Amino acid sequence: MIEEYRAIPLTEKVYWVGAIDWTLRDFHGYTTHRGTTYNAYLILADRITLIDTVKKPFKDELIARIASVVDPRKIEIIVSNHSEMDHSGCLEELIEEISPKEVYASPMGVKTLNELSPTLTSIKPVKDGEKISLGNMYLLFMETRMLHWPDSMFSYLPEEEILFSQDAFGMHLATQERFADEVDPAILNYEAATYYANILLPYSNLVTKLIERVSSSGLTFRMIAPDHGPVWRKDPGKIIERYKDWAQQKPTRKAVIVYGTMWHSTEKMARYIAEGCAAEGLQVQLMSMHTSHRSDVIYELLESGAFVIGTSTLNNQMLPVVADVLTYVKGLRPQNLVGAAFGSYGWSGEGALQANEILKEMKVELVSEPLRVKHVPAPFDLLACRQLGENIAKKLKEKLSL
Ligand code: FEO
Repeated sequence: MIEEYRAIPLTEKVYWVGAIDWTLRDFHGYTTHRGTTYNAYLILADRITLIDTVKKPFKDELIARIASVVDPRKIEIIVSNHSEMDHSGCLEELIEEISPKEVYASPMGVKTLNELSPTLTSIKPVKDGEKISLGNMYLLFMETRMLHWPDSMFSYLPEEEILFSQDAFGMHLATQERFADEVDPAILNYEAATYYANILLPYSNLVTKLIERVSSSGLTFRMIAPDHGPVWRKDPGKIIERYKDWAQQKPTRKAVIVYGTMWHSTEKMARYIAEGCAAEGLQVQLMSMHTSHRSDVIYELLESGAFVIGTSTLNNQMLPVVADVLTYVKGLRPQNLVGAAFGSYGWSGEGALQANEILKEMKVELVSEPLRVKHVPAPFDLLACRQLGENIAKKLKEKLSL
């Protein structure tokens, strides 16, 4: 029989044995244009060890990849770095099938796995800084609470200098290539940034602290092996540097203007605001929420300085497409933005006012009161839109000390 799935060696002793999900297009609200992978890693130590598992429907692929190297029943230890179901979904079945001697997780991981499945009772907790012996090698654990779940932890294999970083430093990218240096750099950069914006952005302060901690630990990394996307093999320090930059959320000379429109009046306002921003030297990303996805908006906001939101009013509310993106973006907590709300309306015009309240809750530095126009914008309204764009740009440049 021809083997469909094979393990991919990272080193002589460590193999990628995960699964490729080519068709995934939605990861709880984040649009995954290029699918994803669920990475698991097999360490051929004296005591054979598996780091993480995969999403439940991919269990057979995991087992088949392991079996291409070693009989899965020879696995003595399983480590669960992160209990979210894309990495622990088949843990229970796998334990039943291969009967490992020990299963480890962080103390919160033990609790979460037990909550997810009451039969997962024999998992042992490992503390921050604790080591476990694999016979001729050992694993060192580092708690990374809230990056991005309370249970999250890293495992480090000193003999091979590999950091198993669960979701951190990952990306949603289904490829046959297992190493970042084999992937088109433009795709790699885009997907890494999109992933940071959609998953890790709210925890940026913790990312900064973690990187400081990792940098001062004296550990050296030959590879960083995340739970999604390719392994960082050549110069893994580069992705750490990118995380350091993203976590700072420094504003740039870029405005993201997002809108929902009923009869193109709010759209027209958005275009004039964009003209005003551009006239004052900003780079502009104009996004209609009728054709853009919320997760692309947060990607654009990751390296920007202004967030401008427009909406018509429908039944005394902002448009549903605008409520959607504002709910999503607010939850991801982007920082250090200037901005404003705007929109046209027919009767009472609550939409832009509601959007403005959300910008306030997000602590966006507002340039003005919401700019509202009744029905179709007249030439003087469009002039006001252009002026608003210029004012946003001026405020942002002031902030950037330009
Ligand atoms: Fe990839 Fe937080 O799970």
